[in-house]
Amino acid sequence: MAQLTFSDIQGFVLSSYAKNMPCANYVLLKITDVKTCRNWLATIIPQVTTGVDRKDDYCLNIAFTATAFQKFGFTADELITFSVPFQEGMSTLTRQQILGDDGDSAPARWFWGNEENPVDVLLLLFAKDEDQLDEQLAIIKTGIEQPSGVQLIKSLSAGRQPDTKEHFGFLDGVGQPVIEGTDQKARQLRRTGHATELKAGEFVLGYENEMQKIDPLPAIKRMPEFGKNGTYLVFRQIEQHVHSLWNYLKETTTDANGQSNPKDEEKLAAKMIGRWKSGAPITDHPDADPNPSGVNEDNNFNFAASDKSGFGCPVGSHIRRTNPRDSLFDDPAVSLLTVKRHRIIRRGRSYGDRTQDVYKNDGKERGLHFICINSNIERQFEFIQQTWVNNLNFATLDHETDPLIGHRSEANLFSIQGCPARTRIHNLPDFVTTKGGAYFFMPGMEALKELAK
Ligand code: HEM
Repeated sequence: MAQLTFSDIQGFVLSSYAKNMPCANYVLLKITDVKTCRNWLATIIPQVTTGVDRKDDYCLNIAFTATAFQKFGFTADELITFSVPFQEGMSTLTRQQILGDDGDSAPARWFWGNEENPVDVLLLLFAKDEDQLDEQLAIIKTGIEQPSGVQLIKSLSAGRQPDTKEHFGFLDGVGQPVIEGTDQKARQLRRTGHATELKAGEFVLGYENEMQKIDPLPAIKRMPEFGKNGTYLVFRQIEQHVHSLWNYLKETTTDANGQSNPKDEEKLAAKMIGRWKSGAPITDHPDADPNPSGVNEDNNFNFAASDKSGFGCPVGSHIRRTNPRDSLFDDPAVSLLTVKRHRIIRRGRSYGDRTQDVYKNDGKERGLHFICINSNIERQFEFIQQTWVNNLNFATLDHETDPLIGHRSEANLFSIQGCPARTRIHNLPDFVTTKGGAYFFMPGMEALKELAK
């Protein structure tokens, strides 16, 4: 088993801080003068939370895009040691096509991360309450206003939500793998009844991964192991059209007499996601939410033995596409092995106020600051998005994409498998729009210090 150097790994790789730090802000910066920026970075580094820090007031972490490393003077030979999607950037045409970012989600329309608003540096700030968040944010902003070599592009609030649900109303953050060599397994087992422990190299560079290999380590001349203990961080600001989802559910479940049926609406939503609002897996609870007013973090289920055909959890639902578990191929063991190579750790948080009325368009933007970490963007995040979420022919399906977040232009259908026949619902609109995004590299502490030299 890998012996991780926790003191060299940024704390965010190992923890979402969600339990103690419900408030967050993501500060996006552009480097304007690299020499001054190195000095500014040197003042930030002592505050960066590592894997051994146990803080209870606030945490700070930092990550960089490829353009930052260009400004730091990395040569072409050095930059090519980083992963290709990272080098290219999320808003380039190739990545745009892979991710399905077109129409309203096209990078040209983004608030940040595109040609008009490029970003170099991401500061992730977490705090125990709003006062602490405001205080730390003010300190950071004052530091930036001095000659710092960086300029503020955006400060994205992820505030505090009233509960652990995302804006559509469902518990989020349940299905997560844990990192071998950490203490996450026991906690995950206690919380969800199940833990998929993956090799550290899936999430921290420099260690063996699920292919019994070590993913390429970014290297620079001054520091051949620059990438060690670092990871790639994917950030996408995804707007959620809550009223579109719930009006669609209402219209689709209204009976021939014009009678709406809230129970059917909720069931259809649960079929699309694969879990009830409480988080309870629909594969184990096909008829109703067993815990409608509570939280159910059960993650101890598979599909092959009990729900192969998708009569409980539809084959194309959000959780079955993003983690097909043992149902990808006929052989469950081969499925599990394959799926292990395409996992991410999600670390996102909701932004914007919770709506008062899910059917009403109140004109306010709300959504998910989707953040995930992985060692190999192509094999993990992009694979999930391209080969599972947006695959028109995922598993046995035809002309369908993820009913919640899928790309719609060629496909707006969703099949709900059933006996004697499946039900197919039509004309799904877009329930989400990408509003910004970038691929970042989150270096280990030693590499950070090297950058500041
Ligand atoms: C606004 C956008 C999104 C919303 C509202 C959303 C919502 C949810 C919800 C409610 C769950 C079930 C609870 C849980 O297991 O955490 C879930 C699971 C998951 N989502 Fe998303 N999601 C979004 C975007 C994405 C994206 C962009 C990806 C990756 C491409 C993704 C990957 C996953 C994964 C891997 C799981 C866990 C599946 C499992 O292990 O069973 N999600 N999401």
